[in-house]
Amino acid sequence: MSGDRIRIFDTTLRDGEQSPGCSMNLAEKLTLGRQLERLGVDVIEAGFPIASEGDFEAVRAVARELRETQVCGLARTASADIERAARALEGAARPRIHTFIATSDIHLEHKLRMSRARVLEEVDRAVREARRHCDDVEFSAEDATRSDWDFLVEVFGAALRAGASTLNVPDTVGYTTPGEYAALIRHLLARVPGIDRAVVSVHCHDDLGLAVANSLAAVLAGARQIECTVNGIGERAGNTSMEECVMAVKTRPEVFRHLETGIRATEIYPSSRLLSSIIGIPVQPNKAIVGDNAFAHEAGIHQDGVLKAAITYEIMTPQSIGRPSNELVLGKHSGRHAFRDRMLELGFTLEGDGFEAAFRRFKDLADKKKVVYTEDLEAIAADVVVASDDRFVLGDVAIVAGTFATPTATVEMVVDGAERKATALGVGPVDAIFKAIATLTETKSELVRYQVNAITGGMDALGEVSVTLSEDGRRMIGHGAHTDILVASGKAYVHALNKLEWHKRQRARSEPRGI
Ligand code: KIV
Ligand code: ZN
Repeated sequence: MSGDRIRIFDTTLRDGEQSPGCSMNLAEKLTLGRQLERLGVDVIEAGFPIASEGDFEAVRAVARELRETQVCGLARTASADIERAARALEGAARPRIHTFIATSDIHLEHKLRMSRARVLEEVDRAVREARRHCDDVEFSAEDATRSDWDFLVEVFGAALRAGASTLNVPDTVGYTTPGEYAALIRHLLARVPGIDRAVVSVHCHDDLGLAVANSLAAVLAGARQIECTVNGIGERAGNTSMEECVMAVKTRPEVFRHLETGIRATEIYPSSRLLSSIIGIPVQPNKAIVGDNAFAHEAGIHQDGVLKAAITYEIMTPQSIGRPSNELVLGKHSGRHAFRDRMLELGFTLEGDGFEAAFRRFKDLADKKKVVYTEDLEAIAADVVVASDDRFVLGDVAIVAGTFATPTATVEMVVDGAERKATALGVGPVDAIFKAIATLTETKSELVRYQVNAITGGMDALGEVSVTLSEDGRRMIGHGAHTDILVASGKAYVHALNKLEWHKRQRARSEPRGI
């Protein structure tokens, strides 16, 4: 089943979310899921339902909400995993179960302690069980690129006979190279009986910086599904970047044999921004397609060329991926209607109290600043979306600092519903705020990184602070935005603490993920 369409399977909410500092709560996953549907991805892998109660709930919520895009849940071959994925997908309009088992001798010997014959039995049983729940089953041979090619032919043959309609060939450890991966795909297409009935899928990790190149080489060899993530987030060095693959195929049709994806390219940049604002991890400035500098021409000779004719140095336009110039979007006279519409365009569906809180924040900001930019609105929305089930809520903050006084912070907070207040001294005002918050929340995390950025230009810009905290070996990034960077610092610290708390609750209720 080759055809002229490349399916985009987005695993930002599963493989992406698994990477350090990228975890999302249910409200955040739903917000991003809605945007991915708007973007036009074919399949959203919403989580690994057996891994934790939180993953189960998130897959269930995304499955119930999205009507156009297929929603997929991951499962190992164990019956309990498949059962759990099926339960989570019950409300889905178009469900898919994705089951996987490792096939390399390295994994068979050291991790699974199984023979090849046993793996073949597992594949057959798991795919048949998944098919009893769902017509659409994907099978992945984990660590395929370090597996014996002839064994892979047997494994995929078994998955196909058992009823899988998508066969995924993961480069789990980011080890392969474009020529080798293309040859493996061609080998499978030539040797697995009946493979033309299935979609061959690729799933790459970026350990050698080759994930996009490998995925595209595989497409040229006949693969028709790319598994990828927004901004390329994912385990270790990340997964294949969605935006890079999509724009390569779109920009070079003659190379990619006029294959197409169903992606609405103008939603690429909003999706990238939305993800960054939710997880609090900015995109590196020189990142292809969505980085700040991706369309910035610094060298005089380039600027001169672009002014004369953009085509001299621009192979695609910023508008084609939905990149606005830093335009003024709303002002202090804008009403609820305009605010709601603009938030929707940015991917945030705000309702009830969440909407009112965001609107109040917007009005306060519009009073303080002359202009309110897209980035300001994203910062407001991210704060409100995140806040839904938080243990800690920051209230008022008063700071004494400067060269005359010992830096002192008085902080009011709501902790588990109760109002509290504390004053602390520090070596600087930020240190004093963090100490007061740690006292009020009775937490003992370690500050790993502290970073301040101006979100927009000008003296009245919102300051955005990112704080990385570590506790019991787990790291979380929090972010906060405010016109006063000391308040933004307090918000970022509390955000990171809430994420750590959320994870503690998940861990208390969950099983190990096992991948
Ligand atoms: O990298 C990998 O092998 C995976 C599988 C579960 C598809 O993420
Ligand atoms: Zn992966």
